[in-house]
Amino acid sequence: MAYRSEVGGRQLQAPVRPPYGRIRRSLPLVATVVGLWLRWRVLRVQRRIFGVAAMEGATHRFHQAAAEAIVRRAVKQQGLIIKTCQFLGSRADILMEEYVRTLSLLHDAVPPRPWPEMRAVIEGELGTTVEELYATFDPHPIAAASLAQVYRATLDDGTDVAVKVQYPGIERVVEWDLDVIRWLANVWAKIETVFDLRPVAEEMSRNAPEEVDFLHEGRASEELAGLLGERADVAIPQIYWQRSARRVLTMDYLEGIRITDLEALRAAGVDPARAADTLIDLYNTMILRHGMFHADPHPGNLLVLPPDGIHPMRIGLIDFGLTKRLTDEFREMVIVLTTAIIAQRPAEITDAMEDMGFRARIRDEETYAAIGQAFLGDVLRSGKAYMDQQLFAEVNLRLGRILRANPLVEVPPDVILIARVMGLLSGISRSLESDADLLQAIEEYLRPPALEEAAVETVG
Ligand SMILES: Nc1ncnc2c1ncn2[C@@H]1O[C@H](COP(=O)(O)OP(=O)(O)O)[C@@H](O)[C@H]1O
Ligand SMILES: [Mg+2]
Repeated sequence: MAYRSEVGGRQLQAPVRPPYGRIRRSLPLVATVVGLWLRWRVLRVQRRIFGVAAMEGATHRFHQAAAEAIVRRAVKQQGLIIKTCQFLGSRADILMEEYVRTLSLLHDAVPPRPWPEMRAVIEGELGTTVEELYATFDPHPIAAASLAQVYRATLDDGTDVAVKVQYPGIERVVEWDLDVIRWLANVWAKIETVFDLRPVAEEMSRNAPEEVDFLHEGRASEELAGLLGERADVAIPQIYWQRSARRVLTMDYLEGIRITDLEALRAAGVDPARAADTLIDLYNTMILRHGMFHADPHPGNLLVLPPDGIHPMRIGLIDFGLTKRLTDEFREMVIVLTTAIIAQRPAEITDAMEDMGFRARIRDEETYAAIGQAFLGDVLRSGKAYMDQQLFAEVNLRLGRILRANPLVEVPPDVILIARVMGLLSGISRSLESDADLLQAIEEYLRPPALEEAAVETVG
């Protein structure tokens, strides 16, 4: 069954080919952003003159129009801008509803590329015809996102599979986008010294080559499936290697409900808050226990599989393009830091952060403690499992003040994806109306089983 890509009631058209080259990929984007920024400045003046209440309708219309303009631009450009918008569109915790609703189209409903183009990718990669490879194959895609389009098919033995096919030419598009992002981060660093985006750009550059290699993705999903094997509440599709290559991945089709579709969840007898609990616990296990995690939990990559008589409710994880492996030392340091933040001990927070590779210009406990507080402490103590707009504004203000006096000059790359995951999970927890106590959820992970065993051994 095909899906519809509409924004503001208008059908979106995908370009036959996204713009090629750095200039053609960056200029229209900059023009869109500057255009929106100017309109926002005008609106701010109007709000000051006429009052915020009088301009409320116009403000909503502006944000809706801005969100639609961003989606239209992203669909034309494709590549990493879609990935960036997927992140933003997941932040129901801190962004206005207009953006969350509109940008979420980019999670899995990007206008599809024509079938002949995608068929050529499959046949070029696997060296034979689609008819030879699959018993049945539906040429209408079930979804399309940042790097690939996904089809449903069956194997000779009747197994239902999803076939993920990379957009032709996407590797080059991603390379150009990385150049543009690195350039923008450098320009930004000259204007604004407080939140340096260069480490983020570097981390993106490190991960992108792996994301466009589906063999890497397949291996990562198998490894994580192995680590999570004992858990009954997670589903990870099995990979069919005979029908997979660098640009094609054939895997089990997961029949599930989109995690942010509250109505469908309730209709299937699933309590959304329970789904949120399971998701958070799954991430605690992956990050704090195994040190290996799926780093892209936006709503397009998470499904809920209702109980089916054999399994309890399961969280279906798909899209392992961005999977992170931490070293054991680093995983331990994350646990030590989390413990220190919860205990509110500035000296320990400072030691832990320095061990991990953070460096502030001046070694100052107050700075490190404030970062720890902003990163995790505020949410833990708010009694909720997510940020909200007000808390986010407060944190930004406070952190901005502290970092202006004493900026961070080094950020360990491994925390960037952890921060990304925390942001995405915060957004989803908000969407799912989670009432979980994050502090309680995380506590049991703070003493790794290895240490407990060691303690038992010494006692015994
Ligand atoms: N195994 C699967 N079972 C069911 N749906 C899938 C499966 N794999 C992908 N999809 C659908 O296809 C979409 C895009 O696939 P994904 O692997 O996330 O690609 P991308 O890397 O481009 O984001 C997903 O958001 C999901 O809706
Ligand atoms: Mg995806």
